[in-house]
Amino acid sequence: MNNIACIVFSPTGGNLKMIKSIKTFLDDYNVEIYNITKPQIRETFIEIPKKIDYVIIAFPIYADTLPDIVTEYLNKLLISNLPVSLIAGYGNIHIGKALFNAKTIIEAKGNVVCSACAIVLAHSYNGSKLQIAVNEPSNEKLKALNQFILKSINKVKHVSQLVICNTEIPEGHIRLLAKAPQKLFPQIFIKKPKVIHERCNHCNVCINMCPTAAIDNELNIDNGKCIRCLACVKYCRKKARLFKTRTQILTNTLMKEGKDLKKNAFFI
Ligand SMILES: Cc1cc2nc3c(=O)[nH]c(=O)nc-3n(C[C@H](O)[C@H](O)[C@H](O)COP(=O)(O)O)c2cc1C
Ligand code: SF4
Ligand code: SF4
Repeated sequence: MNNIACIVFSPTGGNLKMIKSIKTFLDDYNVEIYNITKPQIRETFIEIPKKIDYVIIAFPIYADTLPDIVTEYLNKLLISNLPVSLIAGYGNIHIGKALFNAKTIIEAKGNVVCSACAIVLAHSYNGSKLQIAVNEPSNEKLKALNQFILKSINKVKHVSQLVICNTEIPEGHIRLLAKAPQKLFPQIFIKKPKVIHERCNHCNVCINMCPTAAIDNELNIDNGKCIRCLACVKYCRKKARLFKTRTQILTNTLMKEGKDLKKNAFFI
């Protein structure tokens, strides 16, 4: 076992940070990163290459489950008969059914989920008002994650039958509010990020970082395409993209629910 594929969706970079740490740590292995945050990679990388022995899939938790984009992508990905580890990076609020739902999709294609974990990351909506898990993932937590992945690799390395490596994941539950269509609540609570034209230098970084190609060349956002991931706000070096919540309800709720740092969850 030598060739590892890491598939990652990471609009605000937390999941990508974890995957890069794993790649550096596994320097004896051939680790390829497929960053499906980019719409063009989601369109072109649709089959796991034959040489791959083990797959890691990392994604954020949105509304207690996988982002719809990741669900759609995994449903069309050609992947079979491989051991898979799942990493769900979440904003210290609620894990819900994210890992369970991802496992269901992956298993339906004839693969075995040999391990899974939910890791606390800085919340995408952090800013002046909200400060949730701002220092996560810490170096210590990244080290623990790297060891967990090594343990997962060792688990599958010498088995004759892949199925022996299957790991159980608790089903979890989806909170009432998160049962609505995934885009609905972010769109209700958060306005689409605006441009402050006096600050903008037309570098187009926001256009390039948007995972849904929602920003046109005039920097306008297509509301229907915008998933309120806030990548455009985070990566604008001129602080020219601003987001505003429509009410205090979202900020207050997140502040309350994300106050105490939760423990990372590991299943192997
Ligand atoms: C639309 C949206 C919904 C989210 N829903 C949840 C959630 O249900 N539970 C949670 O703990 N964090 C939630 N978060 C926070 C993200 O899971 C978290 O910030 C994650 O680190 C983002 O990953 P990334 O940095 O790799 O993009 C949500 C973020 C967004 C943008
Ligand atoms: S990233 Fe910021 S500065 Fe660059 S085009 Fe977008 S809004 Fe303007
Ligand atoms: S326009 Fe919307 S979808 Fe695109 S990066 Fe900004 S918040 Fe995310």
